[in-house]
Amino acid sequence: MSKIIIAIDGYSSSGKSTMARDLAKRIGYVYVDSGAMYRAVTLYAIEHGMASTDKGMDTGKLIKALPEIEISFRPAGEDGIQHTLLNGVDVERRIREMDVSNLVSPVAVIPEVRKHLTSLQQQYGKERGIVMDGRDICTTVFPDAEMKVFVNASPEERARRRVLELVQKGADVNYEDVLKNIRERDHIDTTRKESPLKRADDAHLLDNDKMTIAEQMDWLLNLYKKITGSENRD
Ligand code: DC
Repeated sequence: MSKIIIAIDGYSSSGKSTMARDLAKRIGYVYVDSGAMYRAVTLYAIEHGMASTDKGMDTGKLIKALPEIEISFRPAGEDGIQHTLLNGVDVERRIREMDVSNLVSPVAVIPEVRKHLTSLQQQYGKERGIVMDGRDICTTVFPDAEMKVFVNASPEERARRRVLELVQKGADVNYEDVLKNIRERDHIDTTRKESPLKRADDAHLLDNDKMTIAEQMDWLLNLYKKITGSENRD
């Protein structure tokens, strides 16, 4: 079978980016982190005084600036992680910081932002052979994707994982703040008018609360093999 499109949606910090990236590497596909694109737009808005926690969002100014926001990805280097570039500058670390996390959901509800990024994401999919993760990939970006997965885990487990990840990166965070941020994002992501996060009818459910990374990979590879009738490359 020729290359397919693999769409993975799920709640924030459900581990979907890690599994999507590892799956892409394993089967020789391109990986696109659509959340990183929303984060890059948010960082642009923060840096240009269009978004802040005190003053709110200058939506009109951000919509006007969209054509000036160029987002690209640099393939994984020694760290094994693909880096997001905003207007040519590596912002991979910066877009994961708390101020961006706190403002990204309000940016992601803006219909013009979604339209702009959805169209860029669809262009990435033209060549197929892609794994993309996000919130609306199965439902809006690639409704015809051959393989669709919806990932879920409890908010408490996701907060625990996120704290571990941030602490490992040297950040000073506490569990309650992270859990609060996760709950707020879940609420905004699932209740927004434009492309809310929901499981597509034909998406396979992966509940990974009690699964290890290796078990998740087996689960994904089995599904991939079933859909494509192929063996993986190892
Ligand atoms: O996956 P993430 O936490 O890096 O995503 C950051 C934010 O971007 C998340 O709060 C919701 C938004 N997002 C979205 O609305 N649609 C996507 N396809 C991906 C992310």
